[in-house]
Amino acid sequence: MQSPEKDLPRHVAIIMDGNGRWAKRRGLPRIEGHRRGADSVRDITRASREIGLQALTLYAFSSQNWDRPVEEVRLLMALLRDYLVDERAEILDNNIRLTSIGEVSRLPDFVREPLDELKAASAGNTGMTLTLALSYGGREAIIDATKRLIERVQTGEIRIQDVNALSFGEALSTNGLPPLDLVIRTSGEQRLSNFLLWEVAYAELHFTDTLWPDFRRAELFEALATYQGRERRFGLTSEQIRLIASK
Ligand code: IPE
Ligand code: IPE
Ligand code: MG
Repeated sequence: MQSPEKDLPRHVAIIMDGNGRWAKRRGLPRIEGHRRGADSVRDITRASREIGLQALTLYAFSSQNWDRPVEEVRLLMALLRDYLVDERAEILDNNIRLTSIGEVSRLPDFVREPLDELKAASAGNTGMTLTLALSYGGREAIIDATKRLIERVQTGEIRIQDVNALSFGEALSTNGLPPLDLVIRTSGEQRLSNFLLWEVAYAELHFTDTLWPDFRRAELFEALATYQGRERRFGLTSEQIRLIASK
């Protein structure tokens, strides 16, 4: 097992895709894939905490996923509630702070209540921030941040010239999380599907064909090793980056 310490990403986000195909290949209903996917969530969260990631953000349900068949949405919500109830002790015992991004007001009460409770109960934890993207869309998040900034301009709190990448980033729901270093997407799709569109600007991307229910810690460590082999240049030259690193 690789234990990545050098240049460990601070913030990893995962597009957990492929539950439906995992189930279909086995002749099972899609929900069985989601159920097995929850086991991957547990393993990946635990491994991330053990190796010392500062932040893990998981795309669990998109703004667009509301348009799936009603029965699938209902079962996904029930699974989400089970997850929050079952993982409560593990999250608290491991000093994990649970947060969420997305329009959580759209979630049914039986999900929102345990979510709010666990967010409050874990708010003081310092070990790792686990963020669930729920009813989340990157475009929607950018529009929300824009509205927030317009309001602040209208009330005279800031001037138009104060709107910049820094203040915009602070108006987003991911404010307070470390910069996004690595995005992993499972299931072979190579797209972002409306995930963290602003934050992804200089993140490294890792795509794997593995379906989410089969994605466990060994593959996470592989993704981290790939990340460690990349040179992040942020628009500079390789020589500049090496000079900065040697200082
Ligand atoms: C990801 O798996 C989970 C959610 C989007 C909620 P999918 O349900 O999208 O699985 P595929 O892509 O159909 O295989
Ligand atoms: C992205 O997967 C959303 C989540 C993983 C929660 P989708 O399955 O919804 O994305 P598309 O439809 O393939 O782009
Ligand atoms: Mg999918």
